[in-house]
Amino acid sequence: MSTHLAIVGGTGALGFALAARFAAAGHHTTIGSRSADRAAEAADRVRRLVGREHVDGGKNGEATKDAAFVLLAVPFAAHVDNVKAIREALRPGQIVIEATVPLATALGGRPTRVIGVPQGSAAQQAAELLPDGVHVVSALHTVSASKLVDLYHELDEDVPIAGDDVGANRAVAELIATVRGLRPVNCGPLELAGLIERLTPLLISVNKRNRTHAGVRFTGVDRPAW
Ligand SMILES: NC(=O)c1ccc[n+]([C@@H]2O[C@H](COP(=O)([O-])OP(=O)(O)OC[C@H]3O[C@@H](n4cnc5c(N)ncnc54)[C@H](OP(=O)(O)O)[C@@H]3O)[C@@H](O)[C@H]2O)c1
Repeated sequence: MSTHLAIVGGTGALGFALAARFAAAGHHTTIGSRSADRAAEAADRVRRLVGREHVDGGKNGEATKDAAFVLLAVPFAAHVDNVKAIREALRPGQIVIEATVPLATALGGRPTRVIGVPQGSAAQQAAELLPDGVHVVSALHTVSASKLVDLYHELDEDVPIAGDDVGANRAVAELIATVRGLRPVNCGPLELAGLIERLTPLLISVNKRNRTHAGVRFTGVDRPAW
């Protein structure tokens, strides 16, 4: 399976690291940015890192309009602005993977806290703003950028996923499973996204105390069901 993935926030730590992993897995990967120059520079860095040609970049709207999957990894304080910047470009059938976490840092608070989102989560906030027929799937909040960007690091962790469209959830699971060492786990409908987003500040606290980059693993789920 090879597909086209665009990443809004692809110049940032998580977006760039995911771009590298998905490009290395063989997918056409487009870096999105508010700046065409920053997108092009980051795409060039990904190409050099993974040694592949199928990586490009562009301003967020242009970058996302033809992609089967659009991943959002932006600071929560800029989440609404970034969703609004792409919503005119998106069409029914496209799948938005939401990795943004409403960390309290958005309001000057601690990274070990989340702030309340009226819709319940960043993913539900995106779903409310995006056109009908664009499916939002919550995923990739628990993988550390620094582990992802080191392509020699062998990943071995689960990726909790939540979304309301079974087909979109399955498509995202198949995409994520193309990255060796990542195992997607179906957590249920999008209303569960708030719980998944809260895993990030928990992991930040664990990381601080244990000087590590922890991920998550569900025990007893031998064959994840979709
Ligand atoms: N880092 C991790 O390991 C990790 C893990 C799990 C979840 N997350 C979540 O993923 C999201 C991104 O985290 P990150 O660490 O990648 O953040 P980051 O390094 O600060 O990068 C975020 C990117 O967002 C874009 N952006 C758009 N609007 C912005 C604005 N108003 N101000 C600043 N940047 C803006 C920027 O790209 P342009 O300027 O090019 O548009 C920037 O490169 C956050 O919600 C975070 O909580 C991160």
